Amino acid sequence: MQWARAALLWLAAWAGAWAGAAAQEPAFVPGVASLLGALRPAKAVVRAVRAAAPELFVNLTQRLSSWGYPLETHTVRTEDGYLLTVHRIPHGRAGANASAPAPAAGRPPVLLQHGIISCSEYWVLGGPDNAPALLLADQGYDVWLNNVRGNHYSRKHENLRRKDKEFWMFSWHEIGMYDIPAVIDYILNATQQEKLFYLSHSMGNTLFYVAMSLRPEYNAKIRLQVALAPAVYLNDTPSVPARLAIANSEYIKNLVETFPTYEILPKTESAIALNYFLCSDKAFFNKLCALLFSWIVGAVDLNNTTNLCLVLARSTSSTSALVPWHFAQISRSGEFTQMDLGRSRNMRSYGAPSPPAYPLHRVTAPAAIYVADGDFIVTAKGTERLSKILPNVVLHKVIREKFFNHMDFVTHPRVKELVMDHVLETMARF
Ligand SMILES: *[C@@H]1O[C@H](CO)[C@@H](O)[C@H](O)[C@H]1NC(C)=O
Ligand SMILES: *[C@@H]1O[C@H](CO)[C@@H](O)[C@H](O)[C@H]1NC(C)=O
Ligand SMILES: *[C@@H]1O[C@H](CO)[C@@H](O)[C@H](O)[C@H]1NC(C)=O
Ligand SMILES: *[C@@H]1O[C@H](CO)[C@@H](O)[C@H](O)[C@H]1NC(C)=O
Ligand SMILES: *[C@@H]1O[C@H](CO)[C@@H](O)[C@H](O)[C@H]1NC(C)=O
Repeated sequence: MQWARAALLWLAAWAGAWAGAAAQEPAFVPGVASLLGALRPAKAVVRAVRAAAPELFVNLTQRLSSWGYPLETHTVRTEDGYLLTVHRIPHGRAGANASAPAPAAGRPPVLLQHGIISCSEYWVLGGPDNAPALLLADQGYDVWLNNVRGNHYSRKHENLRRKDKEFWMFSWHEIGMYDIPAVIDYILNATQQEKLFYLSHSMGNTLFYVAMSLRPEYNAKIRLQVALAPAVYLNDTPSVPARLAIANSEYIKNLVETFPTYEILPKTESAIALNYFLCSDKAFFNKLCALLFSWIVGAVDLNNTTNLCLVLARSTSSTSALVPWHFAQISRSGEFTQMDLGRSRNMRSYGAPSPPAYPLHRVTAPAAIYVADGDFIVTAKGTERLSKILPNVVLHKVIREKFFNHMDFVTHPRVKELVMDHVLETMARF
C-alpha cells in the first residue's frame, strides 16, 4: 500500500494546488483555501504560460470559429431558478453540409450531456473529423451542448448568487430532476421537433436515468439514448485513487464543510497555469501526471500525452461537492439510490430509513450502451448489470483497445473510428 499512499498524497497536493488557484476567486474567503493560496502562481507566471501554450486559453467560441463551425448561445431556466447556458452548433462546417438547405423535417436535434466536473467544451476538443459534436454537426445533426448548474457557464440563478451556500446545495439528483427536463423542453420547442437524441458521457447518463425514471413522461421525447460509459453501478471500480477517495469520503466531506460553499474545482487562469506546469508535454512532472491520471481513469498512452494537458485544462469545470459525495455513496452501496441523508432525515424526506432506489424499469427510451474494457471508472460488469435492468437496451458494446480510458470516449485521437462511426450508424436506424 506504500505506492497507494503516495498516490493519495499526490492527489491531495494536486487538489490543494487547485484549491489554491481557487483562493483568488471572490467566492472563497480565508480558511483552508487561503492557506493553500500561497501556491497560486503570480500573474506574471500566468502570462508566461499564456505565451507558451496559447491553445490552453482558447475558449469554445474561438475554437469553433477557427474551424469554421457556427455557435449559438442559449439560456434555459430551470423550475428551481437556475439559468443554464446551452451551446448550439446548428449545422456543420462551412463548405460541408452548411449551405445545403435543412431537410424538410428539420435537422434532427441531438443533446450532448457532459459528465462530472466538465462542460460543453469537452465535446469539441478532439477537433474536426474526430470530436463527437463536430462529427454530428457535419453529418447533418442540430447539435446542442448542455452545461449543468454550477459549471463555469451555468453559474447564474434568479435569486441566488454564486457565493451563497444555497446555490451549491445540489447533487446529480437535482441536475437530473430539473436541468435535463428543462433543456429537453427548450430544444424541442426551439426546433419544433417531437423527439431528440440524447448522447451522454459518464454522469450525463446518470442524469438521464434520474430524469427518465422519476419523470417518465419524458421517455416519449427521446429517439435514442447513446450511453457512453454510463455511471450507475460503480462498486467494482479498479481505480485506486477513486477507491481511496470513496473510502475516505466522510473525511473529505468534513473538510469541505469548512469551506464557505460546496463549490469545488473552479476553472481559473491559475488552475490552467498549474495544469501546464504539472501535465504539459514540456512539464517536468508530465509522466507522473499521466501515470496518476492512468490510475484514476484507466491507462494513458505514456508515449503520447500531447492531448492530456489540453483536455484537463479545457474540459474540467466547477461543481458542488455534493455531486461526488452522492457518487461515493452509491459506489459504496452498489445501488443506484437517492442521497443518503442519515437515518432520521431519510425518514423525514423519503418516509423510510434508507434512501429509495431509482425505478430504472420506468426508463423506456431506447438505449445504446458503450463501455470500454480499459475504463477504470465505469466497468463492463457494471453496465452489463444496468443493461439487464433497463427495459429497452438496443445494444451493449464493449470497446477493446489497449489505451482507451474513461475520458477517451470523448477525446481519444481515434474516437471516430473506435466509437463514433458505430454510434452514427446506430443513430441512423432511429
Ligand atoms: C470567448 O471569448 C470571447 C472573447 O473574449 C468572448 O466574446 C466569448 O463570449 C467567449 N466565449 C464563451 C463561450 O465564453
Ligand atoms: C452531409 O450529410 C450527409 C448525411 O446527412 C453525410 O452522409 C455526408 O457525409 C455529409 N457531407 C459532408 C461533406 O460532411
Ligand atoms: C418556444 O419557441 C418560440 C420561438 O421559437 C419562443 O417565442 C417561445 O417563447 C418558446 N416557448 C417556450 C415555452 O420556451
Ligand atoms: C513507446 O514507444 C517506444 C519506441 O517508440 C516503443 O518501444 C514502446 O513499445 C512504446 N510503448 C508503448 C506503451 O506503446
Ligand atoms: C499523439 O496524439 C495526438 C492527439 O492526441 C495526435 O494528433 C498525434 O498524431 C499522436 N502522435 C503519435 C505519434 O501517435
